[in-house]
Amino acid sequence: MSNVMTDSQLQICDGARTVSVPLGTRAYDVLIGPGLVAETGRLIATRLGPAKCAVVTDENVARRHLATLETALKQEGVHVGSIVLKPGEATKSFSELAPLSEHLLELGIERGDLVIAFGGGVIGDLAGFAAAILRRGVRFVQIPTTLLAQVDSSVGGKTGIDTPQGKNLIGAFHQPSLVIADTDTLATLPEREMRAGYAEVAKYGLLGDAAFFAWLEQNWKSVFAFEPAALTKAIETSVKAKAAIVGRDETEQGERALLNLGHTFGHAFEAWCGYSDRLLHGEAISIGMAQAFRFSETLGACAPGTAERVSAHFAAVGLPTRIGDIPGAKPDVAALMRLMGQDKKVRRGKLTFILARAIGEAYVAHDVAPEAVSEFLVGEMAGSSGR
Ligand SMILES: NC(=O)c1ccc[n+]([C@@H]2O[C@H](COP(=O)([O-])OP(=O)(O)OC[C@H]3O[C@@H](n4cnc5c(N)ncnc54)[C@H](O)[C@@H]3O)[C@@H](O)[C@H]2O)c1
Repeated sequence: MSNVMTDSQLQICDGARTVSVPLGTRAYDVLIGPGLVAETGRLIATRLGPAKCAVVTDENVARRHLATLETALKQEGVHVGSIVLKPGEATKSFSELAPLSEHLLELGIERGDLVIAFGGGVIGDLAGFAAAILRRGVRFVQIPTTLLAQVDSSVGGKTGIDTPQGKNLIGAFHQPSLVIADTDTLATLPEREMRAGYAEVAKYGLLGDAAFFAWLEQNWKSVFAFEPAALTKAIETSVKAKAAIVGRDETEQGERALLNLGHTFGHAFEAWCGYSDRLLHGEAISIGMAQAFRFSETLGACAPGTAERVSAHFAAVGLPTRIGDIPGAKPDVAALMRLMGQDKKVRRGKLTFILARAIGEAYVAHDVAPEAVSEFLVGEMAGSSGR
């Protein structure tokens, strides 16, 4: 469901798109387009009413974009302060959550006020969780600044932090009140981060929209060249896909699990690399998705050649597709099985995988035998170089 706003009071700039996330009383809009950060004060005032705003961001985003956001909020007289955290996954932790929550209280954020998460998925997940628990829940606005965050983490209301036991194991479903995805912010994103986010874009084609995947195969260079029409289409199509799934299954009782395509393998690789820069989340799930299609082929679920098409596209954009593409020491099968066993999607000794019948036809398989997985991984290790 998408429409360009026509009401002059709510109108956003030319070329901008609005996607609605249909969640009844918790429904909200995702605004996508260039130049939106500079409009934030007005957008918040007209859509969410008067509220004090505290910004949570990281140093990389602050250096490039915070002045624009603060000016926009100050124009409306609603800025009470900005909290700038260290960049990186380690920030999504209890040790950062506690001072952040206290800082937000010190800034006077009350029920009815707003926390603004301004950054990538790390800031969105952490600030969103802080908003979920502050005063038993205050509203928050996502202003995602990475491609991954614009197409995935800012939409759907999953918030949380990591612990030594695993990623995202502490958290809450807390929907934002508004998402403002300013495509201009992506211009300062390192290319590697852009590629990693693109893996999530491609995921929507692979899991449910074969025509979109075919479009990406034809148009990915335009997306990476920041051609406005192509970039906006890629983000809008992705957000619409996520919004539709979240609208039908907000708390992941069923269909929402499809969004985890490539994640069971991918999380194991991320864990192996210690959630470090050695392997970004998007890179890990790129390998994971390529493997999910190879595994589906091995199990006879999809036609031969499907996995090769997926890998060929990822390789063309410069994303990894094989365990051998992980820099440094490679995990062995036992280590991967152990890491997958710790994945939170294990049920009664069986693993849950998202498999595919074809490109655009993913499904949830709850009964994958660990033996089938380890046998598959042995084969993967044997052919771990090239595509
Ligand atoms: N909540 C969800 O549904 C969901 C979904 C997918 C991923 N995630 C989470 O998202 C996180 C990954 O998010 P991410 O990939 O955005 O990582 P990130 O937030 O760490 O951002 C990546 C890097 O880019 C920098 N950066 C961000 N915006 C920038 C900009 N415009 N210009 C320059 N640098 C910029 C950041 O400082 C950081 O160094 C993980 O913790 C993952 O678990 C959550």
